[in-house]
Amino acid sequence: MLDLTHRPRRLRTSKAIRDLTQETTLHTSDFVFPLFLIEGTNKQEEVASMPNIFRYSIDNALKVCEELQTLGIRAIDLFGVPDKKDETGSEALNPKGLIQRGIRAIKKEFPDLCVMTDIALDPFTSHGHDGLVKDGKILNDETVEVLCEMACSHAECGADVVAPSDMMDGRVGAIREALDDEGFIDVAIMAYSAKYASSFYAPFREALHSAPKFGDKKTYQMNPANSDEAMREIELDISEGADIVMVKPAMVYLDIVRRARERIETPIAVYNVSGEYSMIKAAAQNGWIDGERVMMETLLSMKRAGAKLIFTYFAIEAAKLLKQS
Ligand code: PBG
Repeated sequence: MLDLTHRPRRLRTSKAIRDLTQETTLHTSDFVFPLFLIEGTNKQEEVASMPNIFRYSIDNALKVCEELQTLGIRAIDLFGVPDKKDETGSEALNPKGLIQRGIRAIKKEFPDLCVMTDIALDPFTSHGHDGLVKDGKILNDETVEVLCEMACSHAECGADVVAPSDMMDGRVGAIREALDDEGFIDVAIMAYSAKYASSFYAPFREALHSAPKFGDKKTYQMNPANSDEAMREIELDISEGADIVMVKPAMVYLDIVRRARERIETPIAVYNVSGEYSMIKAAAQNGWIDGERVMMETLLSMKRAGAKLIFTYFAIEAAKLLKQS
């Protein structure tokens, strides 16, 4: 005999009742749009492996910011593709560098847009690693000193949030101290706390011409097999002063997001990375999946797992759909 005391399907009988009992809702204000800057004027280059994602010169990036604001997207994460790369990534500290000029221009025109900036050396180093290198090793403490200078340089230009994505030990505490010493007490730190050594970053590295020239990033980014270690990294970053912690990539690491959510109250961000974007785009272009639906389902899963902020190349497309619904 069927026991039908409970019929869970009752709450699925109409759109109204489904909406009323829906547990998780995506908002445009959850999204952070990663923006790639290049030198020059009136430039816009599509990233070959990321359909509809472009590198923009600063003047064109301002037009994108305008669109973001109109759509209700509140934040960007700035990455630079500088013309000049060298062994120590010295261009990262140039007060008139690409990112520094970009932050100033964007904050001047869009003071309400939350400008986050990537803190890591990889786009600026000739070898493509996130830190300084000696005898084939990525140096930790020496790199942290440079990252502190980089964070202060971005804060000086008006960045609202600095986002260290390098995975050096102790960098969050050091950056907090450096920012405070220079009076930037309100500049927040969004720490890439559980950042895995992932193969999903390939299209991003193409976008930034930043693939490592030797070795890999496994001595600083995390082993994809580990979950306890992610909790340790997250707790360390919070104790060092992180205002927001990130899990990256997103799609195949939602167990880490959920586990962190159950342990900590600090806001959690996920980075829906380049490879995740490109896979969906490629399948959609082939007509194998409904790209828009898969996009929304994917973004929703990140929120449901426990993330509040979602860094995603889908931000504009998803915001347009949310506006219609
Ligand atoms: C580098 C950085 C990477 C990404 C963000 N910051 C790549 C890497 O660590 O090699 C990847 C983002 C993406 O794939 O969309 N510090």
